[in-house]
Amino acid sequence: PADVGVLAIEVYIPSQYVAQDELESYDGVSVGKYTVGLGQERMGFCSDCEDINSLCLTVVNMLMERNALDYRSIGRLEVGTETLVDKSKSVKTVLMQLFEESGNSDVEGIDTTNACYGGTAALFNAFSWVESSAWDGRYALVVAGDIAVYASGSARPTGGAGAVAMLVGPNAPLVLERGLRGTHMQHAYDFYKPDMQSEFPVVDGKLSIECYLNALDRCYSVYRRKAEAHWQKMGVNQRFSLDSLDYIIFHSPYCKLVQKSVARLALNDFLAAQHCNMPHHRYTGLDAFREVTLVDSYFDRDVEKAFMKASEDIFVQKTKPSLLISRQNGNMYTPSVYGCLASLLSQVPLQSLAGKTIGVFSYGSGMAASMFSFCVSADATPGSSLEKLVSSLSDLQTRLDNRHSVSSEEFSHIMELREKTHHMAPYTPQGRVDVLLPGTWYLVSVDEKHRRQYNRQ
Ligand code: ACO
Repeated sequence: PADVGVLAIEVYIPSQYVAQDELESYDGVSVGKYTVGLGQERMGFCSDCEDINSLCLTVVNMLMERNALDYRSIGRLEVGTETLVDKSKSVKTVLMQLFEESGNSDVEGIDTTNACYGGTAALFNAFSWVESSAWDGRYALVVAGDIAVYASGSARPTGGAGAVAMLVGPNAPLVLERGLRGTHMQHAYDFYKPDMQSEFPVVDGKLSIECYLNALDRCYSVYRRKAEAHWQKMGVNQRFSLDSLDYIIFHSPYCKLVQKSVARLALNDFLAAQHCNMPHHRYTGLDAFREVTLVDSYFDRDVEKAFMKASEDIFVQKTKPSLLISRQNGNMYTPSVYGCLASLLSQVPLQSLAGKTIGVFSYGSGMAASMFSFCVSADATPGSSLEKLVSSLSDLQTRLDNRHSVSSEEFSHIMELREKTHHMAPYTPQGRVDVLLPGTWYLVSVDEKHRRQYNRQ
């Protein structure tokens, strides 16, 4: 099949949020630490009446309804998540409840887990299925969902929650570029969840940033090598740099790290250009940094400052529009980078998207990371698949604006309740169902055998 990629995207954002400036004063940290230092404005969260299953039920149901899709048209369903409520039973099998009425149980795919990377692994699997001999002509559905909660303390403001569903198939407006992937996988204990009784990760914040930036350098270098080899095969002798991508989006733990990541790629470009003695005009005046090495510069303030300045225009043009959901809702873990994709599509004018290339960096602690790219269809005429995809995301800002604001005290109580009752059975959730948006699935009860019952608002 030709042009395999993403045909439709649906995003589910929780209906409640806490403002980061209020959280700063509640937590007693200096004014600006979360809002300026991390670049976050609001953080979405779920009460105890939503869990990973309800989030994924909601987003799949929304995607199917909004695109008027028949459940029989889906031949594969993959879930990427790191929010486990069961060590054996998958979210995927819970989602099969939505398929029951249609009679379609012939649906391949299952859950994939590794921190924030599972959604990307799921997307790659779905893509491979459509390209393979096993493909039967139907669509694949990829779901990434998580509830990102940290113990109270310095990591808490970098939480979030949500889910993204993507329809994958041929003749897509967002085509996954073939043969252009750079991956880096390595053993690390930067962020992990060894305590099965707790929702919270064990996290070494500084190490997680170092691992993220290291993985970014590695993936970029592999991606660049493959892109240049690809061009060479076509007889084009060209160097790859940030100029080769029209947009670039990242897994976003918090917006500031994404801006630093753009600077990091600029540093990579600068060093690569030095190496082959072809200095890039963008980096004139930065000669003092010629001897910098990637591995010694993760926390080098001078390097960071200089390259943030040199790459500011790239960040503003190619990345900033992708940070809408991240800034307003926080880190959703697996859906984070796909929330950035949805944000980009909703924030950039259609004509500026058509025919362009979007670079994507996906990172999951532990650690697994890939850089890959989408080619956007050149056809943006009314009724085209690109125009439909983009217009289906045009209400994102309104949806973010219409959420309920919750005070820091109440947020803290809700987090305490989640912590105390996590994995309790039997259990009846206490959270308010009336604040959920119409169409939201929620947890009604957990019985003495830990079986979960859901209902739709
Ligand atoms: N005004 C403006 N900026 C401020 C202020 C202020 N009043 N106070 C602090 N800052 C800045 C700091 O200088 C720092 O900026 P810098 O990173 O450019 O140096 C930033 O705000 C954060 O302050 P720190 O003191 O570094 O914050 P802390 O160490 O307490 O926590 C961290 C930050 C490590 C990111 C923490 O929130 C965390 O552990 N989060 C979870 C892990 C994470 O998200 N890792 C990222 C990759 S892995 C993943 O996706 C899970």
